[in-house]
Formats: sequence, structure tokens, C-alpha cells
Amino acid sequence: MLMRAPLDIRSLVEARRPGYTLEAPFYTSREVFDLDLDVIFGRHWIFAGLEAEAPTPGDYRKIDIGAQSVILVRGDDGDMRAFHNICRHRGAQLVTAERGRVIRFVCPYHQWTYKRDGELINARQMGADFDKSCHGLKPVHLRSIGGLLFICLAEKAPDDVDEMAAAIEVRLAPHDLRNAKVAAQMDLVEHGNWKLTMENNRECYHCGASHPELLNSFSEYSVGFDPGAVSGRQQAEANAYVEFATKSVADWEACGIASKPVEHLKGRASAFRTERLVLAGENESQTMDSKIACNKLMGTITQKKLGGLHIHTQPNSWHHAMSDHAISFCVFPLSPDDTLVRTTWLVHKDAVEGTDYDLDNLTKVWKATNSQDAALVERTHAGVKSSAYEPGPYSPFTEYQVDDFVTWYIERLGAYLAEG
Ligand code: FES
Ligand SMILES: [Fe+2]
Repeated sequence: MLMRAPLDIRSLVEARRPGYTLEAPFYTSREVFDLDLDVIFGRHWIFAGLEAEAPTPGDYRKIDIGAQSVILVRGDDGDMRAFHNICRHRGAQLVTAERGRVIRFVCPYHQWTYKRDGELINARQMGADFDKSCHGLKPVHLRSIGGLLFICLAEKAPDDVDEMAAAIEVRLAPHDLRNAKVAAQMDLVEHGNWKLTMENNRECYHCGASHPELLNSFSEYSVGFDPGAVSGRQQAEANAYVEFATKSVADWEACGIASKPVEHLKGRASAFRTERLVLAGENESQTMDSKIACNKLMGTITQKKLGGLHIHTQPNSWHHAMSDHAISFCVFPLSPDDTLVRTTWLVHKDAVEGTDYDLDNLTKVWKATNSQDAALVERTHAGVKSSAYEPGPYSPFTEYQVDDFVTWYIERLGAYLAEG
């Protein structure tokens, strides 16, 4: 019988060629996938969901990352907390539903009972010496950044998240996502490795051929281009766009709306990028007609033309916040070959479906875009399994953020492997 040699991940990490896609095992191997769960998803700040998903005390959301199951719950004091979803008695999972509302968490096995802040308040027949205070739910690090919930499963969470928080908080403030309402949520399983899902998100090289709905609102010049490969007319259009974008950002900043780009996509544990991207011409939102989909604007916003605030966080999220709605994307690895993409559409908390917005109009562009992206990820995953696959070069004009994502990933694996 043919014996397969164990995968030498350390050598693969050291051999990564900058500017190129990864070697096939990074996308296909179970060993790398398990390492990804331990190192990338186990030691970094992971985007897990939104405050808006749990507006009322007792509302909870269950998040599964590999074998780790986490409960995000709003407490009686209004604060969000995160706990491991395991009973401190014999380890049964406390909740199996994806979401719900509880007065207390009661373990179905022997009915140990926990408050919404994790305190154990009832454990029958444990004797007079049993100390309930030592058996509360195990907490998980949680940060709410402008209503975006990030968790870290490690004992010590990376503290460079503070800089990310400062940049994102101020930019999201006008949108007030903490008090927004979930208008819709969609889970989509992409049949590809989670890194292919992320790589696909980090570029718009493919947008022209694949995303007609999304490109209704964008300028083709906002997503990167080779200045040496455009005609004189295109160069004039590109220059006009850059001038328009520069003026728009300056105008927003003058009104106190933070919009300038901040980019730290690699070289640190908590890596991110944020920028208020200008939409083309008179466009207001990422909708089929490029007009706002919700008449009640978000938070404290009063102007319809506020571009699209984009936020990218390594390793697993991206977000777009317009004047009227926001869309949040969360990626969870399910297996080497399958990835969950969770999309959430947010509107002002008082917006009423059918009166202020039409759900189909609100969600149409990104439902179409998600399904187009899923097909591209599946196609690429099938290709990288071939014995003929070898790493290919990224476009320096339109795929530098993909390269940055992969570089960040290799840096983080390298730092872990260097520990011993
Ligand atoms: S395992 Fe939860 S009460 Fe026994
Ligand atoms: Fe796409």
C-alpha cells in the first residue's frame, strides 16, 4: 500500500512566493485546514456577528468555528458577552439552536442553570461544599467595534485590535449599526476553501465579467486599473473619477464624516482596511437603480450620497455601509472544501418593510453577487485540486489586496511555527 508522507507545512510556509497564489495543499489539505482553525481562527480576532442580531436582553446567537461553539448573548445590563457553549458540569452543549432568547441558560442534561452573564445559579445535589462561583460559563474575549462583534478564542487576545477599533468606530459612527435592525440574513455554503472565498472578495478584477448588478453603482476606475493599458479617452475618464473621488472625500471629511482610507492589511495580528469608497456619478447605494433602497437613512445620516464605507478585516469579514443600509459579510470555514458565507442586511431600527423599503430591492444586488462569487470560488477550488495546478501571479493593479491577505495568512502561520 502506498504510504503518504506527512505534509511539511513549515517548508510550504517558508517557500511561499510573494505575489503568487498559494501552493495547492493550503487550499485542499485537511492538515492545513486543522492548522487554520487552531492558529488563524483560534488566535486572532474573528468577526462573529452583529449587535443588531441580539437587540433585546436574553437574545443569543450561536457561532461554530470547527469544534469551538460560542454563544453571543445580550445581558440584562445591555452589554454583549461571549461564552463557550459548554456546561461546566459534564460538558454538554447548552444550546443547539442557531439563535433564540432565554431568561436563563438551563442545561438540558441535569439542569444546571446559568444567568445571562454566565454565573452558575443552580446545580442540584452537589453538596454543601460545592462552590458555584467557580463553575460559571467560560468567557470568550469579545469586542464590539461600532456594532460589529469580534471574538478571540485565545487565552490572550492580540491587543493591536485597539488601532483597528479606533479607525472603524469613527467611520461607522454616523451609520449607528449598534441600533440598526436586521432586515435580512442569508447563509450560503460555497464549495471551496475559505481562503479562496476571501481571495475572491479582495479583488474586483473579476467584477466586469461577473457582477453586472454590483457594477451598476461603482465606477470601473474605483477598483484598480493599469494606467499603461488605457486609451487616452479612458485616461481622461480615470482622471475625472480620481478628481471627483478626492473632492467627495474632502467634502465628507469637512462635514465631520470620517472617510479617508486607513490600510494595515498585513504585518500585524489584527489587520484591516477601511475607506469610504465613492460611488459613480449621482449614485447613492448598491442597488439595481443605484438609488437608496430605504427611505429612512441610517443613524444620524441626512445626505443620500455618502458612498459606500467599506471595511475589510483579516481573516474573515467585509462590510459595506451606505447612507440607507449596510451589508455585512462573515466567513466561517466548514471543511477544507466548504465555507459558510453569512450576509446580513441592516437598516435604521425604525424602518418598516413595505413602507420604508422593499426587501427584494434591498437585497437583490448582493444576492446576485453572492451567487456569482460562489460559482467562481467553486470553479477555482476544483481547479486547484488538479495535479497541473501551480501558483499563479496576482495582478499588481487589481489584486494587491489578495496578495496582502495571503501574505498576512503566511505571516501568521509563520509566527506560530516559529514559536516551536
Ligand atoms: S452536563 Fe450540564 S447539567 Fe450535567
Ligand atoms: Fe465577486
